[in-house]
Amino acid sequence: MQKIKENLVNIKPSATLAINELSQKLEKEGRKIYKFGLGQSPFPVPKTIVEELQLNAHKKDYLNVSGLLELREVIAKYHSKKNKHSYTSDNVIVGPGSKELIFQTQLIMNGDLLLPSPSWVSYEPQANIINKKIHWLNTTAKNNWHLEPQKLDDVCKQFKNITKLLIINSPNNPSGTIHGDLENLAIVAKKHDVIIISDEIYAELNFTGKYKSLTHYYPEGTIISSGLSKWCGAGGWRLGTLIFPNELDYIRKTLRSIASETFTSVSAPIQYAAIKAYTEDYSNYLNLSRKILNCIATYVYDELTNVGLQCQRPQGGFYMLCDFSDVIMASNEISNSSSLVNKILKDIGFAMLPGSDFGINENHLITRIAFVDFDGKQALELAKKHSNLSEDFLKIACSNIVNGINELKYWINKNLS
Ligand SMILES: Cc1ncc(COP(=O)(O)O)c(C=O)c1O
Repeated sequence: MQKIKENLVNIKPSATLAINELSQKLEKEGRKIYKFGLGQSPFPVPKTIVEELQLNAHKKDYLNVSGLLELREVIAKYHSKKNKHSYTSDNVIVGPGSKELIFQTQLIMNGDLLLPSPSWVSYEPQANIINKKIHWLNTTAKNNWHLEPQKLDDVCKQFKNITKLLIINSPNNPSGTIHGDLENLAIVAKKHDVIIISDEIYAELNFTGKYKSLTHYYPEGTIISSGLSKWCGAGGWRLGTLIFPNELDYIRKTLRSIASETFTSVSAPIQYAAIKAYTEDYSNYLNLSRKILNCIATYVYDELTNVGLQCQRPQGGFYMLCDFSDVIMASNEISNSSSLVNKILKDIGFAMLPGSDFGINENHLITRIAFVDFDGKQALELAKKHSNLSEDFLKIACSNIVNGINELKYWINKNLS
């Protein structure tokens, strides 16, 4: 008798973790690997936040399931300003990473999940774990991978009597683009009573420094998902947040009960340190981080489009989608996006992820690159001394990025069909 549940028998580890493990294995064998697969922030956690963690290392008690009150207060204040809506500590849940909180929200909600394609790697497997039905909403490169309001309207009309949860993520992983036309998307969502998780984990890394959110148009139906992982380089600290509007308090309450039976609360020292992250002014650190990421994004976009890849210029975060179909003909060896990334990894040690991990048809030769293979601490120090960041800066501060992109260009020119 099969002891593992039917829907979990063939579940794989997260795609990003798998590419990381393979890259590490090849590295151990002595290969040089350009790590454009895993998307973790290269920047150090700001010093004052680390010091706060050290000061609070002795804090040992279990904390409130929703999160430490002082922390929730400052999170509510931060999001009230950024999201242009009034939130209090009662609207906030703090959890061990936004990934876990998004999963628990999916678990609670009745009905189906609506996912734009492409979408971040974990939303779909999370739905599969709990046997939640997914409806993919196709987006196009021509439209910068934005979900068109009409597409949402069509699917909502088709599934009228079902509760619908939509996840939107901007700046986007995998495309690096920032969602346009949020106003009309909000009108359609409101009309069909769609509940939205607005995944804003990269919002502070919008290269323009602006904070754009669906809550500016549809606060009553939007749950904001965010945390410390991307803007302050603290992915391994595991602190994520959800902000619920009063109208969705019934979901927050249920999540709180489930949290009390599962993770209990985020590590106490981390929560005390996070208060600092939400109260001090980190605009210098953020401006420099954005400037560096924008400089790399421009370089990577220009170099790869020059050799014939179809890409959309990243606008925030640290990702870009690369369409190889104009330069590489599908063959026995390269029949889909997975075999394409495996061949490139084996040939030149350049690691990236196949588009199929993000819900893109596997026959489409699209890959996702993350441009974070550099020493963020050193890059921040160097960037402080330059008013304009140029290719010379990249050659010193981000040599792995420059060398990796050169290798990829060389591989493309050699394999050009
Ligand atoms: C789009 C997106 N959402 C959520 C997460 C999860 O972040 P965390 O669980 O560290 O808060 C990630 C991490 O890579 C991400 O890229």
